[in-house]
Amino acid sequence: MSTRVDVKTLLAAAQRVRKSAYAPYSRFRVGAAVLTREGDVFTGCNVENATYGATLCAERAAVAAMVAAGQLSPIACAVVTGARPPAPPCGICRQVLAEFAGAGLALILASEDEGGRIVARKTSKLGALFPGAFRLAVGGGHRPRPSGPGPR
Ligand code: THU
Repeated sequence: MSTRVDVKTLLAAAQRVRKSAYAPYSRFRVGAAVLTREGDVFTGCNVENATYGATLCAERAAVAAMVAAGQLSPIACAVVTGARPPAPPCGICRQVLAEFAGAGLALILASEDEGGRIVARKTSKLGALFPGAFRLAVGGGHRPRPSGPGPR
């Protein structure tokens, strides 16, 4: 199945969920929206914690929502922050996206201003930002694969 990536819709979903970000410590609010092969969109925001280490990133929250809904095939992920230039997903989030997506996953990174306007936008691919993801074969064993979906 091939689903067209509607960038505007995906960005709007990430902007909407960014409003819910819980970021009292860093004040760095992040919204993420994942589009699946099925054409559905799942969103997540960052959820900070007083221990700092228990903080959950927006991208991983969106991936968790996707998995909870029974879907495992993201084809694009939009990330919206207030940073300029647009902020890329952190290393842990790249690894988590790589669990479900191949190198071709489209990343749409955007900055919005205080008024909610998109003021900068950058597109990339997961494979460009995160080559050589760690993979583990189902049942154990390291499976070094340069790209492609993770264990199913
Ligand atoms: N954050 C994300 O939500 N996604 C990333 O990829 C990078 C960082 C959040 C975590 C924390 O709440 C804040 O941004 C500052 O690091």
